[in-house]
Amino acid sequence: MSKLKAVRMLEFPQKGDARGYLVIVEGMKDIPFEIKRIFYIYGSDSTVIRGQHANKKTEFILINVSGQSKVKVKDGRGKEVVFLLDRPHTGIYLPKLVWKDMYDFSADSILLCLASEHYDPEEYIRDYDIFVEYVSEKGERE
Ligand code: TYD
Repeated sequence: MSKLKAVRMLEFPQKGDARGYLVIVEGMKDIPFEIKRIFYIYGSDSTVIRGQHANKKTEFILINVSGQSKVKVKDGRGKEVVFLLDRPHTGIYLPKLVWKDMYDFSADSILLCLASEHYDPEEYIRDYDIFVEYVSEKGERE
């Protein structure tokens, strides 16, 4: 089964009143993992492609808390899908073992990333051909 089936947009609880909005994201409630790490990306522009990797272990939620960007997700078996991230109360869920490219950043883009694991460069696959080989071998074992 394609890993892309698990990729989906999530809508988070949003509390709005006269003072503005507050969005809640709780681990194991609003997203399917406990949050071990957060990082955010800003100062990228429409010429930049970030990401360009897959993770052997980590699951992510990406939320454009300001501005917008796009994320292209590939399963390494010929399927790909593009999502627009442009609302601060929605995020995309990315399971492990999908390839992701983030691009088309607006000047005001702040892309918040929630991760299920601490940072470990060893679990990143940064070469697309190696990723394709890895998912194909994994598929044969499963
Ligand atoms: P990189 O993985 O290239 O960012 P992107 O999410 O756009 O693909 O990370 C940029 C640099 O930051 C790289 O030197 C690794 C480092 N980094 C950490 O030290 N910890 C982290 O949690 C992350 C995401 C990156």
